[in-house]
Amino acid sequence: TRPLKVALLGCGVVGSEVARIMTTHADDLAARIGAPVELAGVAVRRPDKVRGGIPAELITTDATALVKRGDIDVAIEVIGGIEPARTLITTAFEHGASVVSANKALLAQGGQALHAAAERHGQDLYYEAAVAGAIPLIRPLRESLAGDKINRVMGIVNGTTNFILDKMDTSGAGYSEALDEATALGYAEADPTADVEGFDAAAKAAILAGIAFHTRVRLDDVYREGMTEVTSADFVSAARMGCTIKLLAICERAADGESVTARVHPAMIPLSHPLASVREAYNAVFVEAEAAGRLMFYGPGAGGSPTASAVLGDLVAVCRNKLNEATGPGESAYSRLPVSSMGDV
Ligand code: NDP
Ligand code: HSE
Repeated sequence: TRPLKVALLGCGVVGSEVARIMTTHADDLAARIGAPVELAGVAVRRPDKVRGGIPAELITTDATALVKRGDIDVAIEVIGGIEPARTLITTAFEHGASVVSANKALLAQGGQALHAAAERHGQDLYYEAAVAGAIPLIRPLRESLAGDKINRVMGIVNGTTNFILDKMDTSGAGYSEALDEATALGYAEADPTADVEGFDAAAKAAILAGIAFHTRVRLDDVYREGMTEVTSADFVSAARMGCTIKLLAICERAADGESVTARVHPAMIPLSHPLASVREAYNAVFVEAEAAGRLMFYGPGAGGSPTASAVLGDLVAVCRNKLNEATGPGESAYSRLPVSSMGDV
């Protein structure tokens, strides 16, 4: 069987781990896919940066030329942000490549158009890593629970803010000190405002709500409050009431079943609740479905290695689809349940 060629777009916190695991686990990946996977090129911004283990001839600053080569089977987009990521993804589809992405900001803003482009060109768009790092959540919602009716998805979906809130609560650390530590550990976004102001969690809420309720929810539909105004005094007050403070994302089907809402805001959680014991950059998400009942998904929500695990899971899935000349569920799997504004929360 011919090797499947992979273009890696971005080689930072996540991309470098993807490249490392692709290289060290090459034989296992080939066995699971049914064909070897070959790193055909790695697009970066700074070509002179030392990137251990990646042959220098694979490094390029011309991501567009890489996805236009015509022999790429899968492009992995781990650059982040809206452009050039959006154009690179659509160019990859146009040139016969499926795409795996970790880019929640882009998917929450332009997911519908990207899914439509993938479908038009007979390619896959997978993005398990975009929500909750290593935790399998997108595919369980999209596939395992596809025959059930989900009514609520709620939990902690941002590792950076959970890390900061946990440090403030348990060690009395200051906000800036905890944010610096989260950034050094590779949890925070390139601009950490996206984390602390709740934009990252809101993008994830939009993606989760869209998949859970088979509709399209955009970032602008999500009510959003960040955690920058939470103080150590708030933790003292919360503790007096037997509570702690977490940044929650809550996506719900309205009681009449006719619309959905999504919101992100800090909330007091009783210490007896399982979400209260989610520490550091871990995430936890509860899913309530009519037949399944209450499910909890828990694990590392950020960082290079956990996120790379999710990217590689998607890589295996889209490579299998390529070999079978099939694609996963696309844009036509979505109906159009209205999304209500949460502006009055
Ligand atoms: P980094 O900033 O660490 O890496 C970004 C990479 O993209 C770098 O290698 C950079 O090159 C490269 N790059 C930037 N601009 C261009 C360009 N125009 N052309 C080619 N390459 C470019 O980000 P992360 O790895 O942390 O995040 C990547 C994506 O994964 C984002 O969408 C993020 O939201 C998402 N994500 C991140 C998680 C995390 O814990 N870090 C978890 C889940 C998702 P250079 O190395 O030369 O600077
Ligand atoms: N900045 C994100 C977080 C990365 O802290 O959760 C994982 O999506």
